[in-house]
Amino acid sequence: MEEKILSTVILLPLFFLLLVEFETEAKAIDLPISPKKYQDMIHTGFNTNWFKRKNPMRHYSEQIIKDVRDKELGIDECKKDGKPCKHSLRKRPDKYNRWTRAVVNAIRNKTLTGSNNAKRILFLSSPEKTAVGLPKIDPEIYRNASYLMAEWHIYASGPVKKPTSLKYWTGNGDGVGKENVRIAIKNGTNFTENTGLLTYFAEWMPQDNNGGKINESEAIYFTRFFVKEIRKAKIPWSLNSLEKYYIMGKGKWRRRPLTIEGQQLNMSKILDNIIELMPKRP
Ligand SMILES: *[C@@H]1O[C@H](CO)[C@@H](O)[C@H](O)[C@H]1NC(C)=O
Ligand SMILES: *[C@@H]1O[C@H](CO)[C@@H](O)[C@H](O)[C@H]1NC(C)=O
Ligand SMILES: *[C@@H]1O[C@H](CO)[C@@H](O)[C@H](O)[C@H]1NC(C)=O
Ligand SMILES: *[C@@H]1O[C@H](CO)[C@@H](O)[C@H](O)[C@H]1NC(C)=O
Ligand SMILES: *[C@@H]1O[C@H](CO)[C@@H](O)[C@H](O)[C@H]1NC(C)=O
Ligand SMILES: *[C@@H]1O[C@H](CO)[C@@H](O)[C@H](O)[C@H]1NC(C)=O
Repeated sequence: MEEKILSTVILLPLFFLLLVEFETEAKAIDLPISPKKYQDMIHTGFNTNWFKRKNPMRHYSEQIIKDVRDKELGIDECKKDGKPCKHSLRKRPDKYNRWTRAVVNAIRNKTLTGSNNAKRILFLSSPEKTAVGLPKIDPEIYRNASYLMAEWHIYASGPVKKPTSLKYWTGNGDGVGKENVRIAIKNGTNFTENTGLLTYFAEWMPQDNNGGKINESEAIYFTRFFVKEIRKAKIPWSLNSLEKYYIMGKGKWRRRPLTIEGQQLNMSKILDNIIELMPKRP
């Protein structure tokens, strides 16, 4: 039950707040990690559904979730029962800021959550997912805060073939496709330059998950360019959908091409291209 509430509050992809902790490293409990150091530690990787599989409430007071819910800040019922979305946190930066402020305060409050949360790194999500929304976070929330970072992303469902989209990509991306990637990343680095808040890029994928219009060679061109650019920006990232590369039930990497939305893709080959260009672990 409580876990369900947590998923509602924390897993909503648009405004989730990641709680980060190091269970195994006892010394980390005594020595807080700075965002700069943490950026290197996050490095690059795959998304996992950690919150869906474990019970994070072992470590966090249920009170946080109750408090947020009691304030009616945390539950976004947008699109449910055909309700209009004008109250969505995504459309309402004021609500986003109230919600975020309340959650950060609750987590930092020692009475509510115990001892180690003052210097635990929290991620603020971008009010609009992409970097364009980052400046809408009320600077009062992160001003002077040493243990906050921001999360943003684009291409969570991959590049698309729609020329009017900010995620448009075709062929080798010469012209507009590459420019879209550059602008998207520039918007993120620009925010960090302006505010000092470091970021993490939590979701992307090289395939067109909604229409299957991007073919294998295009996915590889996109991947190579994207990974190089985000590497230059020194922003850690995570890749969506491990199961597209790995057969979970068998514990084996996929070898055979996979058909996603009607498009046949050799995910093993795509992954080789990602690995070739991503920063190597220190
Ligand atoms: C922390 O939470 C307690 C219990 O809800 C509350 O009484 C107190 O005012 C809070 N402290 C701060 C600094 O918000
Ligand atoms: C932030 O720090 C500066 C100087 O360290 C201080 O003058 C200012 O009051 C602080 N602001 C907040 C909101 O804590
Ligand atoms: C993928 O699409 C591009 C056009 O964007 C085309 O030139 C190329 O031949 C296609 N590749 C395959 C393998 O179909
Ligand atoms: C980048 O920022 C500019 C200026 O705010 C905005 O017009 C554009 O849509 C943004 N693009 C992306 C992909 O974030
Ligand atoms: C970068 O930041 C400046 C100053 O806030 C802003 O005017 C400009 O639009 C931003 N550019 C991009 C690409 O985000
Ligand atoms: C898929 O890519 C891998 C390289 O990772 C390659 O060894 C394999 O032959 C490719 N499979 C097909 C069917 O092309």
